[in-house]
Amino acid sequence: MTDSLTIRDNRTGEEHEIEIVDGTIRASDLKKVGGLATYDPGFVNTASCRSAVTYIDGDKGVLEYRGYPIEQLAEHSTFLEVSYLLLNGELPTSDQLGQWTHDVTHHTFLHENIKSLMTGFRYDAHPMGMLMSSVSALSTFYPDARDIADPDNRYLQITRMIAKMPTIGAFAYRHSQGKPYVYPNNELSYCANFLSMLFKMSEPAYAADERLVKALEVLFILHADHEQNCSTNAVRSVGSSQVDPYSAVAAGIGALYGPLHGGANEAVLKMLRRIGTTDNIPGFIEGVKAGKEKLMGFGHRVYKNYDPRATIIKKACDDVFAVTGVNPLLKIAQELEKIALEDEYFVSRKLYPNVDFYSGLIYEALQFPPEMFTVLFAIGRTPGWLAQWQELVVDKEQKIARPKQIYTGHRTRDFVPMSQR
Ligand code: ACO
Repeated sequence: MTDSLTIRDNRTGEEHEIEIVDGTIRASDLKKVGGLATYDPGFVNTASCRSAVTYIDGDKGVLEYRGYPIEQLAEHSTFLEVSYLLLNGELPTSDQLGQWTHDVTHHTFLHENIKSLMTGFRYDAHPMGMLMSSVSALSTFYPDARDIADPDNRYLQITRMIAKMPTIGAFAYRHSQGKPYVYPNNELSYCANFLSMLFKMSEPAYAADERLVKALEVLFILHADHEQNCSTNAVRSVGSSQVDPYSAVAAGIGALYGPLHGGANEAVLKMLRRIGTTDNIPGFIEGVKAGKEKLMGFGHRVYKNYDPRATIIKKACDDVFAVTGVNPLLKIAQELEKIALEDEYFVSRKLYPNVDFYSGLIYEALQFPPEMFTVLFAIGRTPGWLAQWQELVVDKEQKIARPKQIYTGHRTRDFVPMSQR
């Protein structure tokens, strides 16, 4: 048996042999079949790159970063260690982790003009809009970031971005609260410092509950990468023009903002609140089945069995609620999940809770307003975006992203003067 595909073009009777490599054929090889192209809205069955960062088996519910199962990383690792793993391909030694932690920690401060830029937003500005604009603005503060061919330079920009993301996110939160921005405390760990920048008031040092710090580490780890999802695809697509990484990541933040992607956990909370009591669940489910709306936090393009992140998050819920008290919406979520998992509509479509179904409940228990949920997702996803961006930059096979179209409009026609329209 050869690894190839024989295509018979019934229009001409000609046969063409096309090589199969890694379970794929090259779309450009189809050109020789009478100029054929593929049509794939949403890239449902198209590989856009080779990547060694994250492996997902959607049918089996497997998620691995650089070969390490997400369950083990969530249990034993920290977010910065996982970031190092994603970016470098291997877990760090103690010295490497020490250096990496030092480098990230010493880039947490923002230029004061970024702070001024942020104070210019309206009091009710969505923090994702503030995050996207501020990250984009960083490209003007670090014009050296355009030198993407230099590995040392890439390292510097990657460090800066992972370091500054929580600071920008926290400033955006404080802005919405009308509270003074809190500067980073470099004595604290990545997540403890983030909580300090969010919640510190007049106390000399803010000490977050260690269990909440751990929960945040786990949440960030779960969100750190997810191969070619919508926002990563945006980062790669924009990055393929060889723009600086701040501009590419700003595009990723824009993609993540949407309710079908990172905005889903915010939508889940709104949905649960609207449902209000468990009595209203059957009526709500009927509405979903009638196509009136979606059950937010359910379904996934890749996971058709279960989302392994959802299982870990459910456990993190228990840990957080032990500190903060149970979120009353949890009962509605659990009942909704139970009913949906038994319902033929959801079973036949392989719709299971995704990572966002429970993450919003934890975030709310940690006292984040819903608008901040996607910001938390963005902070967690930043090392993944950057690992994928770096992979793209050094990948000789990559070209500027430029899909084809099937043109459905008019063909050549003469301009009609205004008086004749
Ligand atoms: N509620 C109700 N029906 C759904 C849902 C849902 N959440 N998700 C999919 N379906 C239905 C679709 O209507 C479709 O039904 P049909 O065959 O009768 O037309 C079928 O299930 C297949 O769904 P598709 O839309 O083809 O699946 P796709 O892979 O394109 O979409 C997506 C995946 C966008 C995640 C979708 O399931 C969805 O919108 N879910 C709700 C939003 C959400 O939770 N997003 C978070 C994703 S995880 C993340 O980004 C971190």
